[in-house]
Amino acid sequence: MAAEVLDALKPTAGSRHADGTLGGAGHAASILTASSPTGWLSGCDRDGAAVEAAQKRLAEKFAGRFEIRRGNFSEMADWIPAASCDGVILDLGVSSPQLDSAGRGFSFQQDGPLDMRMDDRQKLAAADLVNNLSAEEMAGIFWEFGGERESRRFAKAIVHDRAQRKFETTRQLAELIERISPRAGRKAHPATKIFQALRIAVNDEIGCLKRGLEAAVKILKPGGRLAVITFHSLEDRVVKDFGREKTRDYTFSGEVDVPELRQPRLPEMKWVSRKAISPGENELQENPRSRSAQLRVLERL
Ligand SMILES: C[S@@+](CC[C@H](N)C(=O)[O-])C[C@H]1O[C@@H](n2cnc3c(N)ncnc32)[C@H](O)[C@@H]1O
Repeated sequence: MAAEVLDALKPTAGSRHADGTLGGAGHAASILTASSPTGWLSGCDRDGAAVEAAQKRLAEKFAGRFEIRRGNFSEMADWIPAASCDGVILDLGVSSPQLDSAGRGFSFQQDGPLDMRMDDRQKLAAADLVNNLSAEEMAGIFWEFGGERESRRFAKAIVHDRAQRKFETTRQLAELIERISPRAGRKAHPATKIFQALRIAVNDEIGCLKRGLEAAVKILKPGGRLAVITFHSLEDRVVKDFGREKTRDYTFSGEVDVPELRQPRLPEMKWVSRKAISPGENELQENPRSRSAQLRVLERL
């Protein structure tokens, strides 16, 4: 969604942007190109390999106009000054290099260690969850982060199998799921939701997103824009709820909104477009992985 992101963030010469999910630096490069010759970008990624790739790509054309660090976007307000950015982009989820590299353990289509850590300095990996959580805890993750209807059945089967042999590889887990829920004519592989759920849990993706959105508000200037690309409904709901809260012109105390007890306040942000933006036909054809992408844009007031 490069064009849509540029249209939302409107980089110009001299503007300052933050990219919290550098990946292969596709968005970063297009923002720097659009803000030539003096635009500045501060980028981060929690994945060391992504940081290296982004550094290399950007150094060729944009030397002196960017700064990159390995870090979590949930903490970007620690190194980016408050109210300093004209735009922030968060392009969530995993990158193609992460998915395509068997050794990272993100994909059930390739055999590799059951890892799934975006940041390999972190201790907790997917195998730790699968080998140590109770069936109930695991089912909770499969349901909450994967929307998997057979969460309990899968969790029980994992607990049963791991008594014989610990889970170490993606293939071991994918095969167990195929065995109890054969693919038979279904479009998606039966392990899709389980792998998604484990990945979200291992990387605390929802927690990071909530903190990252708050960090973005801090670093944006008034009039600055936040563009967030999500890849599943759980993430999208977090962004929608965040937007609803930041655009409200009142607060309420306690859990429930009682209209008579509302306190007026100035909203912190406004929606740039009410509806989420989806990828166009061309992009879908070129990059089928973009099919579930949704872009939402908010402006700091
Ligand atoms: C979809 S890719 C981004 C692709 C990138 N926009 C591009 O144009 O090439 C998502 C990237 O975000 C990174 N990431 C995910 N969560 C993160 C977090 N909380 N903090 C920093 N990076 C994160 C991943 O490691 C991955 O490299």
